[in-house]
Amino acid sequence: MTVSKDSIVTVAGAGLMGTGIAHAFAVSGFPTRLFDISDAQLEKAKSSIEHTLEGGVRLGKLERTEADAALNNLSVISDISVAAKDSDLFVETVSENLSIKHAVLQDATKYMKPGGIVGTNTSALSVTEIATVLDDPSKVVGMHFFNPVHKMKLVEIVLGIATSEKTLSQTKDYCEAIGKTSIVVNESPGLTTSRMSAMMGNEAMWMLQEGTASAEDIDTALRMGFNHPMGPLELGDMTGWDTRLSVLKHLHSTLGEKFRPCPLIIKMVAAGRHGRKTGHGVYKYEDGKRVPGSGLKPSLI
Ligand SMILES: NC(=O)c1ccc[n+]([C@@H]2O[C@H](COP(=O)([O-])OP(=O)(O)OC[C@H]3O[C@@H](n4cnc5c(N)ncnc54)[C@H](O)[C@@H]3O)[C@@H](O)[C@H]2O)c1
Repeated sequence: MTVSKDSIVTVAGAGLMGTGIAHAFAVSGFPTRLFDISDAQLEKAKSSIEHTLEGGVRLGKLERTEADAALNNLSVISDISVAAKDSDLFVETVSENLSIKHAVLQDATKYMKPGGIVGTNTSALSVTEIATVLDDPSKVVGMHFFNPVHKMKLVEIVLGIATSEKTLSQTKDYCEAIGKTSIVVNESPGLTTSRMSAMMGNEAMWMLQEGTASAEDIDTALRMGFNHPMGPLELGDMTGWDTRLSVLKHLHSTLGEKFRPCPLIIKMVAAGRHGRKTGHGVYKYEDGKRVPGSGLKPSLI
């Protein structure tokens, strides 16, 4: 193990993912600083972390002393010169926009410990391109976390063209230290997870469109036949078919014909049937609950 629990971790971006990532490091014993330009986001993130820790104590997954220690480890800071000072690991998880990420990293690296490394939680941008603003791009690596971070065990470690062996090995150690299982992926469209998930969701939609089986039965097939916790159509409803479609378009343009989006997805998105968030996707939802028997019927397509 090349990292110690004295290592200072800075998480930049206190949104959905940054909140979860800061929680993971703080509860694992690292001095953790959560940085955002928005004070409101920082407050929201802090109370969300408190809420998750309280839930852990209530469910008996965490001792009260551990929850208190996690909160002691956490500081929320809106000044980058303070947040990044002497940082050993800087995890950027600000909005998915290259120029915002570049600006944050250019600033942060002025203050970080020499030898500190930078992890980026980008979903789809190039780690190689993100790293171009640093004097030493060998210190930049992708750390792709999953939502909700406190429940999801996986981190995809993504290698940019310049990522060094040393950076990789330190990143693996950080992942292990926060109880995550890491895999190593060369930078490529959709990495392993989004690529596989997009492929399955698309194929399930082709089957639905062709009338191969009902939506319910396609989902049951994957849950019961392969032990997937969720069927591909249920999962698409949760992720949002609008998001699915933009990922598929990206994969189609980079990886080719096998990712051509199924026309039924395009039609559903045009109709505003984006999934749970709009109350209607492949299934209908009322008060956040799926309406039984509401799966899109092949005969009605
Ligand atoms: N949402 C997911 O399921 C998911 C999963 C894996 C990776 N990601 C990636 O994680 C990153 C963040 O996603 P999110 O869903 O948490 O987004 P989000 O919109 O919830 O949070 C983004 C945060 O970045 C902050 N921010 C914007 N500009 C900033 C700046 N200049 N300095 C500091 N903070 C700034 C915003 O105030 C906001 O709090 C993105 O790159 C996204 O692609 C998201």
